[in-house]
Amino acid sequence: MPGLWMKCVAALTVTFAIASPAQAEEISASSPDGNIVLTVSDEGGHASYSVSYDGKEAVSTSRLGMLFRDHHGFEDGLSIAGSATASHDATWEQPWGERRTVRDSHEELSVTFAAEEGPARQITVRFRVFDTGVGFRYELADQDAFQGPIAITDELTQFSIGDKADAWWTPSRQFNRYEYIYRTGKAGVVDDAHTPVTFRKENGVHVSIHEAALVDYSAMSLLALRPGSFEAALRPGSDGVKVHTVAPFKSPWRTIQIAPDAVGLINSDIILNLNEPNKLGDVSWVEPGKYVGVWWEMHIRDRTWGFNGGNDGLHGANNADVIRHIDFAAKHGFKGVLVEGWNIGWDGDWFNNGALFSFTETYPDFDLPMLSEHAAERGVRLIGHHETSGNVANYEAQMSDAFALYQANGIREVKTGYVADAGDIVRYDDNGVKQYEWHDSQFMVGHHLRVVEEAAKHRISINAHEPVKDTGLRRTYPNWMTREGARGMEFNAWGTPPNPPEHISILAFTRMLSGPMDFTPGIFDLRPNEKPPLREDMQRGDPSNRPQTTLAKQLALYVVLYSPLQMAADLPENYEARMDAFQFIKDVEADWEESVAVAGKVGEYVAIARKGRAGGEWFLGAVTDEEERVIEIPLTFLETGKSYTAQVYRDGPHAHWDTNPYDIVIEETDVKGGGVVVAKLAPSGGIAVRFIAKN
Ligand code: NOJ
Ligand code: CA
Repeated sequence: MPGLWMKCVAALTVTFAIASPAQAEEISASSPDGNIVLTVSDEGGHASYSVSYDGKEAVSTSRLGMLFRDHHGFEDGLSIAGSATASHDATWEQPWGERRTVRDSHEELSVTFAAEEGPARQITVRFRVFDTGVGFRYELADQDAFQGPIAITDELTQFSIGDKADAWWTPSRQFNRYEYIYRTGKAGVVDDAHTPVTFRKENGVHVSIHEAALVDYSAMSLLALRPGSFEAALRPGSDGVKVHTVAPFKSPWRTIQIAPDAVGLINSDIILNLNEPNKLGDVSWVEPGKYVGVWWEMHIRDRTWGFNGGNDGLHGANNADVIRHIDFAAKHGFKGVLVEGWNIGWDGDWFNNGALFSFTETYPDFDLPMLSEHAAERGVRLIGHHETSGNVANYEAQMSDAFALYQANGIREVKTGYVADAGDIVRYDDNGVKQYEWHDSQFMVGHHLRVVEEAAKHRISINAHEPVKDTGLRRTYPNWMTREGARGMEFNAWGTPPNPPEHISILAFTRMLSGPMDFTPGIFDLRPNEKPPLREDMQRGDPSNRPQTTLAKQLALYVVLYSPLQMAADLPENYEARMDAFQFIKDVEADWEESVAVAGKVGEYVAIARKGRAGGEWFLGAVTDEEERVIEIPLTFLETGKSYTAQVYRDGPHAHWDTNPYDIVIEETDVKGGGVVVAKLAPSGGIAVRFIAKN
């Protein structure tokens, strides 16, 4: 091999350099636009990589590798045995999504590492370098050294960010799963974090680490090895093994989104691009839309999920109340009505009694066929609900019948739920022994796909709460429409403390990078716990629990937080009292032709514009944290020079989330494509705009 030579293939640069004395090899690949450069090396007998953006460090030299219980691993004594490159540039279409057409343009470099000691064995790391980041995964081919079952005990993948970067994260392996207030601090104090974790380096480069295509593997969190230097910590199963598999296998992709600014992280499709295409074929039955529900009334203790013998008049899922919601949905153009608490099992301590849930038997005051028919006659559908309380064994035993019942009643979306402390998912092993698993274990990764595949047989789409995190599998299974997986609106009913004013401006640059969220926006009564209790034994939550936003910010959430199933979460009567503001929720779409993040800073503010698929109109949403601010939003997404009527819902001059949340101005103004909207956002305020093109 020559001492140093360079070869150019399209935009890809491959460099082999021999350094003495260990004869280390180094291979580089660049993104199509040349800004991101990945370097892979076997220096010192270790597989490692580093990534730069525009000549600035993004991830410094970080190790790769894997350990097994019963096999020799890939840790040291490794050398590069071969590599291959490929270029890809194509587009594909999303059946629904934040944009219709997605471009997948990347340079691929796969590097095979061979172990020099012990049994002959090789592992390949396949990298894809996009303009907005890097993805890589391990591929273990079928080989003599890996016959029979394989137990992965550790993945040695590291991400060296540096301790001085700013970081936004939620803690991992804590009881409340993904539902934590975001922490903000230096990367050096992040100890164990769920992904996506977002960093802003001192050199200004923004980096967000996550994973794509999490299938038959356990989820990774980022565990600090040293301050600012992280290792992929795989969630173990109940037997202590991280992943059970056989060769050949492929790990999920480890993703590193990279951008010069905060909005660049949002305007990246690498997670979707690293997933497999649609496996379900015709998915015309998967239909995005907005919904209302018998839901918030339980969270603010106006009603109960349980039936309580039927004598107290408090059961939410009763025929009369559901009909009221269906009629409200029909009148205002909503497609769905979610009903929770319809099935037997909610009475008593449902959180700890998942085994008691029936998914086919209704409470006596809930007439499923009658209500489905009432809805169908009005062009509305019920949305089903399966709360498992983490008893997955009980759910899996009934799942097929449960979906069949819903399908027979015209239901096409089901919200699932796994309310149980993290690590308390119940299953029974092959010996009938009860085992407890994490929500993001290999077992649960498999469970969610079993649900999605079974649901697909019944033409049903899934919205999972207390889920495993999103890794872009909606591309492969388009009926996995949305999920929770962060603190949603419910925390503003009982969360003590509720979601802070900065919550959304962090969410947009962290959790939302992974995919749609069923946040359930649109609360209009911003002090629900200040209403007197309905009954002595139905005390409301602490009054400090309330949405810490202005009314305008509630509207902006419909554009900022993407979900193809988007809820109008408040009670019908609260919307009826504010039809002027409610008009925006009626007008806004839930499925998009195009989306673009136009301005923002992590944790401070964000502005996103989206073009509706049905009406072709652009909508804009912007929100701020507790700081009042004036932001300039360039209207570059509109047709340059074209005139539009902007229907604006903005904070009034005295708006403040705490002292004056309802001060809102609703007005129409004329704007031109290519112009600028100057928006004054109140403390924890926002702005929502609908643009109507003029002829
Ligand atoms: C938690 C979910 O996030 C919430 O939406 C639901 O109402 C309750 N569990 C009950 O299932
Ligand atoms: Ca929840």
